[in-house]
Amino acid sequence: MALTELAGRRVLLGVTGGIAAYKAAELVRRLAEAGAQVRVAMTENAARFVTPLTFQALSGHPVRLSLWDESAEAAMGHIELARWAEDILIAPASADFLARLAHGLADDLLTTLCLASAAPVYVAPAMNQQMWANAATQANLALLRSRGIGVFGPAAGSQACGEVGAGRLLEADELVQALASTRRPRSLSGRQVLVSAGPTYEDIDPVRFLGNRSSGRMGFAIAAAAAEAGAAVTLVAGPVHLATPAGVHRIDVRSARQMHAAVMAAAAVADVFVAAAAVGDFRPQEVARHKIKKRDDGGMTLELTQNPDILAEVAALPRRPLLVGFAAETEHLETHARAKLERKRLDLIAANLVGGGLGFEVDDNSLTLIAADGTIHLPTAPKRELAHQLVDIIAQRLERREATAGVASA
Ligand code: CTP
Repeated sequence: MALTELAGRRVLLGVTGGIAAYKAAELVRRLAEAGAQVRVAMTENAARFVTPLTFQALSGHPVRLSLWDESAEAAMGHIELARWAEDILIAPASADFLARLAHGLADDLLTTLCLASAAPVYVAPAMNQQMWANAATQANLALLRSRGIGVFGPAAGSQACGEVGAGRLLEADELVQALASTRRPRSLSGRQVLVSAGPTYEDIDPVRFLGNRSSGRMGFAIAAAAAEAGAAVTLVAGPVHLATPAGVHRIDVRSARQMHAAVMAAAAVADVFVAAAAVGDFRPQEVARHKIKKRDDGGMTLELTQNPDILAEVAALPRRPLLVGFAAETEHLETHARAKLERKRLDLIAANLVGGGLGFEVDDNSLTLIAADGTIHLPTAPKRELAHQLVDIIAQRLERREATAGVASA
């Protein structure tokens, strides 16, 4: 994937002491693949986990460890290195390093470089979940954030120490994405974006439901891309197993009616509504109070009733947001999608083929964007890359719509 944002960018990667230091080796490769020039500086403790030679081989440059290395200082002094850097990314950033950075210490090479550089500093914390939750760590983080230091992650999950919780280093490609996103123009700054995502579950009885195969990944990627573009994002999510993207306000729902209520409550103030959810069109007429038992005649009929059409109701609001619908189709993609665009009075519809390994439960997708004035094909790419492209197009349409409204009212 082309991440042009990092092409030629001079990135100083700081590695601090923690078991996640091994992941920083992969990060050097990914940054280089994205076109960045990478130099590595490590703390003495980081070198206990991974050897400087590993990073030297991967970055193609000597690795700096100490302020007091005369030959390294002669080659490229630490002040020179601090000036060279256009971005400083500390990954992993240990609790100890965050504490020293927060308090302006310069007692080793890495803290000195951070203090001596005008480049933006980003930290990717990684530590035991208890250390992460500790009030001292959180206070240090708040101080760093208030000074404009960017924080990437951490993720939650099982940890090297055997515990489960928040404190895992983000994966290398997530860190590259996060760094690249800091370079993107913030095209949705000041905008309110509402996204629906995932499936809905319609209960049949206390143990069964009607659902669908939507994973929610496309909608979550759009919410993340909109937040990275500077929007205030509300994400109404059906039942999915996905982490909330950074900076996104998430509302979890289960049924179509719950999704309808949550979306309608937020739609009045939204500038954009992206309906990426696969909303169940029908729900059982009645939810059985007890588990339905097998019958002797071998049959079973479920009476269904129609759910509200969330997108159509938002379209009918007096002050309607820019409306982007999704059409997941198994055949006649453009014809069906264009019919939906017109029937639901949408500004844009993102159509994709599903079934046969396409669309749901996969990382890559392709989209055909259809509007009244034309069609754009976005070729197969990871969903988060497509999400950025879609967000760019939404931002352009929003501006165009306002310009036209301005002309009309002038
Ligand atoms: N949608 C919605 N509420 C519903 C059904 C659909 O908001 N009750 C939205 C979806 O999020 C999507 C778009 O409408 O953005 C199209 O969904 P789809 O289910 O394909 O459309 P339908 O109108 O239900 O058409 P079909 O006959 O193909 O089911």
